[in-house]
Amino acid sequence: MQDIEEIEKKLLSQVSTTNTPRDVLKSPDLKQLYGAIKSIADEQRSAYGKRINDLKLSLESSILKREADLDNAAVESIDVTAPWDINSVQVNLLPTNLGSQHPLTVEIENVADIFTRMGFEAIESRQIDDDYHMFGSLNFPENHPARDGYDTFRTEEGFIAPAHTSTMQNRILKAGKAKLESGGQIGVVALGRCFRNEDLDATHEHTFYQYEGVFMSNDANLGQMLGTLRSFFECYYGQSLKIKTQPAYFPFVEPGLEFAIEKPAALGGKPGEWLEMLGCGMIHPNVLLAAGIDPKKYRGFAWGGGIERLVMLKYGIEDIRHFESGKLQFLRKFA
Ligand code: PHE
Repeated sequence: MQDIEEIEKKLLSQVSTTNTPRDVLKSPDLKQLYGAIKSIADEQRSAYGKRINDLKLSLESSILKREADLDNAAVESIDVTAPWDINSVQVNLLPTNLGSQHPLTVEIENVADIFTRMGFEAIESRQIDDDYHMFGSLNFPENHPARDGYDTFRTEEGFIAPAHTSTMQNRILKAGKAKLESGGQIGVVALGRCFRNEDLDATHEHTFYQYEGVFMSNDANLGQMLGTLRSFFECYYGQSLKIKTQPAYFPFVEPGLEFAIEKPAALGGKPGEWLEMLGCGMIHPNVLLAAGIDPKKYRGFAWGGGIERLVMLKYGIEDIRHFESGKLQFLRKFA
């Protein structure tokens, strides 16, 4: 029995120091104790067996405790919300070369940059709005079927996730009214995210971006608008382009037009292949009146187009759904 005491001490101390405590159960010392059972005298055998069993139980429980201690030691406390390791004593910079800007972020900046160089002010469009800005102030009568064309998401409280950046027109006009009335002009582009509750396919996405232009002066005209848009597209695609328009209906412009460019040969276009790029027109008198601007004294034009469409043509992207997919295979092409 003296032996057993000593072997137990030795094994328990092994358990408390090793990183693989369960291996101690395979110790040759333990095997030897088991093997000795046969040679123990009959009357002592049951006491001996019980002693060995107690030893095994105490080994088991100290193994479990040791394993738990090892587990806890392996987990350092970390702040999971921190973008870096706050426990690190070393400067720990993130490898920025592994990331890149989203192609839409880059191109939205490009578009804003071209228009600001023309003298426009660039602002961000809202992502939550109300019926008045999305429809009422834009000459959509109550219950007018033209509202249905916008597949609008609404919250239970009656707010709207805007389906076009035209939702900014009334604000732009109101904010610029004083400048206009003191002999100046209004020139603003609103860029931002839009939402439509419609079926998705290669050219339709529930979330997308638009750029909206609003220009006002006392003699603005369609010629200026077409010249401005042509300059923009030629600058964006870095080449001269053919343009054309055709009549279109939007309640907030009169006349209303669809503006198309001929698909450049450099981007795989054939002569006579036209791409409709945006909607535009002279701002409707009712839209000016809603902003407190006198339509007899001032005129303006507006346009609104999809940014994905611009970018898809520029890079030959075949499916609009890539943009919101978060797929690295797509994103890395723009890194
Ligand atoms: N808001 C319109 C659309 O998204 C486009 C547009 C803007 C048309 C401004 C005319 C003037 O369909």
